[in-house]
Amino acid sequence: MARISDIARALYPAPPGLSSVMGRTQRQLSDHASAAVEAWYLDLSPPICQLPVRVFQEAPVMSIRPLLDQTAAHAAAFLDSLETRPIGTTASYDTLRARLGKPLAEAPLPAETVIADLVRDLDGGILGSPSGRFFGWVTGGTLPAALAADWLTTAWDQNAASNLAAPGEAIVEEVCGAWMKELLGLPASASFAFVTGCQMAHTTALAAARHALLRRRNWNVETMGLSGAPAIRVLTSAVRHESILRAVRLLGIGINAVELVPDDGSGRIDPAALERMLNESDAPTIVTLSAGDLNTGIFDDFAACCRVAHRDRAQEAWVHVDGAFGLWAAVSPQHRHLLAGVDQADSWATDGHKWLNLAFDCGMVFVADASAHRAAFAQDTSYSVPHEEARNQKDWNPEWSRRGRGFAAYAAIRALGRAGLADLVARCCRHASALVEGIGALDGAEIVAKPIINQGLVRFLGEDGDHDRRTDVVIARIQANGEAWFGPVTWRGQRAMRVSVCNWATTERDVARSIAAARRAIAELRVG
Ligand SMILES: Cc1ncc(COP(=O)(O)O)c(C=O)c1O
Repeated sequence: MARISDIARALYPAPPGLSSVMGRTQRQLSDHASAAVEAWYLDLSPPICQLPVRVFQEAPVMSIRPLLDQTAAHAAAFLDSLETRPIGTTASYDTLRARLGKPLAEAPLPAETVIADLVRDLDGGILGSPSGRFFGWVTGGTLPAALAADWLTTAWDQNAASNLAAPGEAIVEEVCGAWMKELLGLPASASFAFVTGCQMAHTTALAAARHALLRRRNWNVETMGLSGAPAIRVLTSAVRHESILRAVRLLGIGINAVELVPDDGSGRIDPAALERMLNESDAPTIVTLSAGDLNTGIFDDFAACCRVAHRDRAQEAWVHVDGAFGLWAAVSPQHRHLLAGVDQADSWATDGHKWLNLAFDCGMVFVADASAHRAAFAQDTSYSVPHEEARNQKDWNPEWSRRGRGFAAYAAIRALGRAGLADLVARCCRHASALVEGIGALDGAEIVAKPIINQGLVRFLGEDGDHDRRTDVVIARIQANGEAWFGPVTWRGQRAMRVSVCNWATTERDVARSIAAARRAIAELRVG
């Protein structure tokens, strides 16, 4: 049999710089693999064979292991460096643009070169957010098992749209859905989907809400659209995440439909005020509640709010819960009480890439009325009729083709088990309290909000009375020093530094180092 390199060389002269790739590839091939790949090439139909770049680019796939080994070494070096490297970035946007903005390549390059260049050119441009001393936004890390499963997800490259294209993923998603409902204390009969994040989880849930609320008014929104439909009202709170508003925009409900329900003084929706507002109108209504807000981790009173929202069967409102991270408090016996009554809601949104510590991007949505969920998304095709013995993923998802997000979630949940998850959540809450109390006790600092779970606020006091300015300056100094990373926020009209702990990797030592980093920033600013 002819050697692949001979065939390829005869058919297509190697572009400059590629002969070494071919040589190396051939050296690394076992006879068996070589024969198999040669057979594949000999089988190629002429139109495919007329793509010389493909032939030369695909040859290295025959020995992908060196590339993957090299990539694993890059990844491990990055993760190992988190202990000592600055958490913030050190390269400016201009520097990154100058390094990365190369002329569009004409000729192919070996994958090893491309990856080595990428790692080198990005030096200083990757935020150390997987570090245990990163407390900005609500950013989890990636559990080792989840990271490994995520790599496999890419290698397997399954199209998770359907159970035909991704049978293993279909079953893994079924299993994960059941596990998560059990862990989060949600009804076992609820439907669910893996989506990109909480934003899409809200959008998916509210699409189901829109369907159900309008169906009760004899309006099929999927066929009739929204023009002329009864107007939907959305009742929410001042502490809701802005992604709720984006979902309302995307679904054509419109921001003007949103009304704020007064709170009880602590940020929690006042159930009596909610009841009054519900009684004011017979419009189809969505109520959104918070399971853990971004700043202090406020939980609404789910039992009371669901009771008033579901009181009148004819006019009953749809209750949606934003539990991007707070829904995971259900796995911790010390924190579970915060979610009392949450199972009485109609839909729930959460993230995998926050407290479950999966890599971006992964969110999950659960809907009590599975028929409304399915009605909003199911779409048949003649070319891909799914097997009926398994759940067909795209009947529940806004996406069509997509990544198999179930594998990493499955790996993470198995690796932690119930006990590991409970410990992870309780540990993060403990660290958040230690950070807020430790930094709040520093000379020149004060606590703004103690964490209810894993989120809290502190601020820094300016000698001139301008505490907002001082807070921003101290935060910038902590970030610049690189030992820890916190972000600013405006909360109830004042600037504050937000402390968010949801990384499995955060340790007591990280907490101590981060309090010391705040102390040092305050001291340096006093001197200088
Ligand atoms: C409470 C809350 N809801 C929703 C979101 C949006 O989630 P995602 O960025 O995963 O879409 C966030 C993000 O931080 C959040 O904290």
